[in-house]
Amino acid sequence: MKTTGNTILITGGGTGMGLEAAKQFDAMGNTVILVARNEGRLKEEAAKLNNASIIVCDLSIENDLDRLVNTVKEKHPNLNMVFLNAGIATNYTLFSRNDSYKVSIAEMVTNYHSVVKLTQALVPILADRENAAIIITTSGVAFVPDLQHPTYSATKAALHSYSLSLRLALEQQKSNVKIFELMAPLVDTPFAKGINSDQKMAASRVIQEMIAKLELNEYEMHVGLTKDIFEKMKVSTQEALHFVNGITG
Ligand SMILES: NC(=O)c1ccc[n+]([C@@H]2O[C@H](COP(=O)([O-])OP(=O)(O)OC[C@H]3O[C@@H](n4cnc5c(N)ncnc54)[C@H](OP(=O)(O)O)[C@@H]3O)[C@@H](O)[C@H]2O)c1
Repeated sequence: MKTTGNTILITGGGTGMGLEAAKQFDAMGNTVILVARNEGRLKEEAAKLNNASIIVCDLSIENDLDRLVNTVKEKHPNLNMVFLNAGIATNYTLFSRNDSYKVSIAEMVTNYHSVVKLTQALVPILADRENAAIIITTSGVAFVPDLQHPTYSATKAALHSYSLSLRLALEQQKSNVKIFELMAPLVDTPFAKGINSDQKMAASRVIQEMIAKLELNEYEMHVGLTKDIFEKMKVSTQEALHFVNGITG
C-alpha cells in the first residue's frame, strides 16, 4: 500500500497506538481523522498535527456508529483507509469477581461488535477508492489468552477470526479493499498501565513496524512478542499459553 497522500480514519486516535499512528501518518503527508469519546483530548492532539480533524464517537453505542458513518460520507469524501484500533480491557482473573458476564459484554461491544458494524458500512464506501485498506488492531492474545484479561482475550480471538473471514470474503469478491490485522504485542500505552512487565514495546516502534508492513502488503502483522507467540503456537498451543502467561505474570 502507498502510505502517503491518504485520508485515514483512526479510532482510539487520542491516545496510545492510535495517536502514534496519527502522528506518524500526519508527518508522512496523510490526512487523519481522529475518533474517540474524549473530545477535549482529541481537539488538543489534532491541533498539534498538520492535517487532522476529529469525530467524537462512543463506539459502544449503535447510534453513534451510524452518526460516524454519516459524518464520513458527508465530510470526508476522500477517505480511503480506516484504522479500527480502539479497544478496552478489564484486568481480572476468572472467579475473582461476580460480574464477568457484564464485563465481557462491554468488552465485546466495543472491541468486536463495533468493528463488525463499521466494516459492513465502510467497505462499500471504500470500494471505489484507490489504495483502500482497513487495519484492525488485535493482539497476540488472539492466539492464546492472557489469564489476567480472560474475557478481553476472547474479544481479540473473535476479532482475529472475523478479520480472516473479512479478508477472504473480499478477496473472493475481487474487492479492492485490503484487510490488514495489527496483532500487537504488550505496548507501553495507558491501556497497559495496570500490567506489571518490563516487556512493553514503545507505541512509536509498533506503529513504525505497522507502517513498514503496510507498505509490504503484509496482511497479518505480527509485531514484537506476537512473533514469538506465533512461533510457540507452531510447536504447541500449551507452549504458547505458558509463554504469554509468563510475560504478564
Ligand atoms: N497496550 C497493549 O499492551 C495492547 C496490546 C495488544 C493490543 N492492544 C490493543 O491496541 C488498541 C489500542 O490500545 P492502546 O494500547 O493504544 O491503548 P489506549 O491508549 O488506552 O487506547 C485505547 C483507545 O480507545 C478509545 N476507546 C475506548 N473505548 C472507546 C469507545 N467506546 N468509543 C470510542 N473510543 C474508545 C480510547 O479513547 P477514549 O477513552 O477517549 O474513548 C483510547 O484512545 C486496543 O484495541 C487494544 O486492545 C493493546
